[in-house]
Amino acid sequence: MPTHTERVRPTVTDEAIDAVIAAGRTEREDVVRAVQSSTDVAFTWDYERNRIPLAKLYEKAKHSQWNGTSDLPWSTPVDQEAVAGQVDGGTTAHRFTALAQADGSPLKSWGTREWTRFAVESQNSTLSQILHGEQGALVCTAKIVETVPWIDAKYYAATQVMDEARHVEVFSRYLDEKLSGHYPINPHLQALLDDIIGDPRWDITYLGMQVMVEGLALAVFGSIHQMTTEPLLKKLLRYVMADEARHVAFGVLGLQEYYAQLSAPELRERQEFAYEAALRLRRRWFQPDVWERMGVDPRPVVRIMLESPPRAEQVFAGMLFSKIVPNCRKLGLLDAGDGWLRARFTELGVIGYEHAVDTGEDYDTFDEVAKDRARSSAGAQPR
Ligand SMILES: [Fe+2]
Ligand SMILES: [Fe+2]
Repeated sequence: MPTHTERVRPTVTDEAIDAVIAAGRTEREDVVRAVQSSTDVAFTWDYERNRIPLAKLYEKAKHSQWNGTSDLPWSTPVDQEAVAGQVDGGTTAHRFTALAQADGSPLKSWGTREWTRFAVESQNSTLSQILHGEQGALVCTAKIVETVPWIDAKYYAATQVMDEARHVEVFSRYLDEKLSGHYPINPHLQALLDDIIGDPRWDITYLGMQVMVEGLALAVFGSIHQMTTEPLLKKLLRYVMADEARHVAFGVLGLQEYYAQLSAPELRERQEFAYEAALRLRRRWFQPDVWERMGVDPRPVVRIMLESPPRAEQVFAGMLFSKIVPNCRKLGLLDAGDGWLRARFTELGVIGYEHAVDTGEDYDTFDEVAKDRARSSAGAQPR
């Protein structure tokens, strides 16, 4: 029996490491990726506006549009090392202290210069994945316009297509003008987007994108927004998060009604999808491509991180599940059937988040665009 001062280290297999770094993944592919999808496109002849919460959300979305070109202070000079230092622990590397000191760590010799470069690369990578995820949202919401059978949902989804186009535009511009490099899409994110787009069931697009990927996006945006003082990035994130709060609300409103009519076996398929998606999203945290770009073999690094998860990984997982678990509860997915999803989230130790407050609760409170407009019409400077 280990004493309480000894830490029990899990055995990490080569397969577990392969799964994290997506070994065998194809290297960068052509500029255009084609994904097969065969989905019924739904016309409706029922134009009755009888889904009141969706109609209200649509009105809100029309009022809260903003312009990524003129509403953000693009002339702000950005010192990327300073921003990366705030967001990624930068020169202090405290995020990875234990990793750097572990037996066999290839990072033992790293000093301030390497950790600063790592923080910059990590930021390039994170913003690149956000950009790719936003394009996924753009494509998915265009698909929802086609496939959802309700007119109020088609109207709302059309506003979200515009929102997501704006998000792709502003993150792409930030990467090009203020940061120092792009990364290809993470294989776990790509696999999830392929599954979402390729699935013929219209609700899977909602569940995968509006609940799972948007949940991750909100977790990442919230943490960067909290840590950075860079005024352009901060305002960009405030505005994007205001839109995302509506998007999560749309996902929950749309699926609550539909899932109330599904059978237990049908719900079980949705539970399994949600669980697999959550695991995939969690894996993208390890950033093997950043270690590679730093000239470090990612395998020993990932092994050490799996044996002793860094505190920052636990914080990230906490943020992710604090968005996903409450929404699964609202959709009835936690307890549907024999409570399969509740059991899985309990095993992962994340069921405690089921009552966490998330931005989908009250999207009005998060409308930073409306707040800035009210301030400027009252003669005050927007933040
Ligand atoms: Fe978005
Ligand atoms: Fe979104």
